[in-house]
Amino acid sequence: MTAQVASNDRLMEELVGLCKRRGFIFPSSEIYGGYNGFFDYGPLGVELRNNIKQAWWRDFVHRRDDIEGLDSSIIMHPAIWKASGHVDGFSDPMVDCKESKLRYRADQLFIAPVHLDGESVGYVAFLEGADSTTIYKRAKKLRDLLGRKQSVLDENQLSSDPTEFTEVTAEQSAQTLGPDATEVGTLTEPREFKLMFETKVGPLADDSATAYLRPETAQGIFANYKNIVDTGRVKIPFGIAQIGKAFRNEITPRNFIFRSREFEQMEIEYFIAPDANWRELHRAWLDTCIDWLVSIGLPREAITEDIHPEDKLAFYSQATTDLMFHFPHGEQELWGIACRSDYDLKQHQEHSGKSMEIFDEASKSKYVPHVIEPSLGVDRTLLAVLTAAYCEDEVPNDKGKAEKRTLLKFSPKIAPYKAAIFPLLKNKPELVERAQAIYKKLQRRWNVFYDASGAIGRRYRRQDEIGTPFGITIDFDTIEKDGSVTLRDRDTCEQRRVSEAELMDFLEAQIEG
Ligand code: GAP
Repeated sequence: MTAQVASNDRLMEELVGLCKRRGFIFPSSEIYGGYNGFFDYGPLGVELRNNIKQAWWRDFVHRRDDIEGLDSSIIMHPAIWKASGHVDGFSDPMVDCKESKLRYRADQLFIAPVHLDGESVGYVAFLEGADSTTIYKRAKKLRDLLGRKQSVLDENQLSSDPTEFTEVTAEQSAQTLGPDATEVGTLTEPREFKLMFETKVGPLADDSATAYLRPETAQGIFANYKNIVDTGRVKIPFGIAQIGKAFRNEITPRNFIFRSREFEQMEIEYFIAPDANWRELHRAWLDTCIDWLVSIGLPREAITEDIHPEDKLAFYSQATTDLMFHFPHGEQELWGIACRSDYDLKQHQEHSGKSMEIFDEASKSKYVPHVIEPSLGVDRTLLAVLTAAYCEDEVPNDKGKAEKRTLLKFSPKIAPYKAAIFPLLKNKPELVERAQAIYKKLQRRWNVFYDASGAIGRRYRRQDEIGTPFGITIDFDTIEKDGSVTLRDRDTCEQRRVSEAELMDFLEAQIEG
């Protein structure tokens, strides 16, 4: 039995298909043709999602003494977004194509120079992550447009250092063939595009009623920091954690649920003394976050660190490192871990007129704390989990013939169903009755599945495809001999007989251990 992962190009396609077919994720509003940047989670998706959130909450809130939970409102006083800088600054540079009417983020759009017979003739624009074949095809398109089909295209020049569109001059832009254009010079200069969704609150329709759907959960934490300091028993260092929806009018939502317009975040603001060794604490947070990702089943080797260069950091930021994951569309940000100094609290102190100081018993001093912010997307974590879990192999079918199998190797901790219970035959009441009894018993503790229909091999295969880690089969030995059941492992297909007591201990260790 040899396992293999689909090639990167095919993997995303397979994942999207599997998620739709088996009820993990659907495009939003599909009966009306879909709605770009929005997704709905089906019966299995919602379980996986909830399991990821519960694991995060358990590990970062329940199992730590220094972090408290919060659930703040999605729509908050608009002054919060003014103070945080989002009203004036939360935007992306955007480029429009005058011909195709498509819009691109300038920092995700690149140009490459096209040389024909050794002479520079213009540029082709392409999106971040485009492969060399796509870029080459666009260069050939430009060559044809220029009426030089016979000219030799220099592939080395094409793959040499691409330029981000934010750095492109007007002269270069005028000679550029856009990613979806059929003529050159159709791309506009980058313009700032506001990312916050606006709404109106109350009966008035004028500007005074303008409010925003939160683009991050973090500001709800800063806005409640005072309440938690005043009502809790927190002492520095301590954190406030929140899981909740965030909304961004992304210019180019893409790569399935990787970048969407409605998504969920799991954020912590970890407050520290201004003179604390933030470099050490930042490193400790990075390690904790990596360990957590590994604990839910992501391979350590698929996680890397992207340290933001100092000259690209916001003026208030001391350091930011993104944990990157090897998604099907390339190495991309999964978890941002930033040292944000005392900027946010000081902004709210200034705009609200309320003191954000805390009295530190240990040092007998009063100060506005600094903050380390680990910020993780639920949907991106789910995509990472799906990417890591997707696998194809060959196993013998009921007749012993090798058959292709698709499986999701979810960790039992986050798998939607923890186990599936099968009576060997559905027309034998004694088997069905025993299987139902075991099913009901397990169902009291975990989300488990009961399936009596079809050949046993097909039933196993259906569960493999949705990532159920264990199969439990009740056969005649169960009722006529010692009460033991067959326990099958999803990944190895190995089967062994266990007693009911052993079964419970085994499942508990695997799911909750
Ligand atoms: N409070 C800091 C903050 O929001 P961010 O880097 O903009 O920082 C944090 O977002 C995390 O939220 C990202 O690392 C990613 O996991 C997730 N995220 C951000 N934008 C997203 C989007 N449009 N779709 C899905 N997830 C997103």
